Amino acid sequence: MKVTTVDHPLVQHKLALIRDKNTGSKDFRELMAEVSMLMAYEATRDLELEETVVETPVAPARVKVLAGKKLALVAILRAGLVMVDGILRLIPAARVGHIGLYRDPETLEPTQYYAKLPLDIAERRIFLTDPMLATGGSAVRALDVLKEKGATHIKLMSIIAAPEGIERVMKAHPDVDICVAAVDERLNEKGYIVPGLGDAGDRIYGTK
Ligand code: URA
Repeated sequence: MKVTTVDHPLVQHKLALIRDKNTGSKDFRELMAEVSMLMAYEATRDLELEETVVETPVAPARVKVLAGKKLALVAILRAGLVMVDGILRLIPAARVGHIGLYRDPETLEPTQYYAKLPLDIAERRIFLTDPMLATGGSAVRALDVLKEKGATHIKLMSIIAAPEGIERVMKAHPDVDICVAAVDERLNEKGYIVPGLGDAGDRIYGTK
């Protein structure tokens, strides 16, 4: 497993604005999508290419185009949706799946209530989006769901991660690479990432 931190100046600048509690929902949403798009640029760096030839107005040109597995984006509802919106700007042909999880009141474990995935998900290379990798419970469950459907090639994309979340995903799914914009200090007693950005879903959708 590999953890990549996207430290590009534009990503870090936009992340600073996202963290600011005075940033309102509209700007927050747009910035989250922009950061996700820029992260996707880095996360797709190892996509396979193949050579082909196109005719320019002047002469034939040997060019490279994407090859290999087709792509899928899978959002963990609901905060993961905004990341998918951003990444689709870069890879608009990707198929999109959704996984909904709730916390079981007895076991406190994330439990799936919804999953709608491309039929050929097992053949696709998957980018799973969860903007806040906090305890890692939701990400691990979503990865379980994807693997139960046969998925083998998955990258987890989170804007901010806590060390605890990274460790939990690493233990449960050592084959999954993680791409983040920042790794923060820790989780607090309520499970929020410190310093983090607060509740991503509430800030995206203006709920409380
Ligand atoms: N989910 C969030 O939205 N924020 C956190 O800090 C942790 C989990």
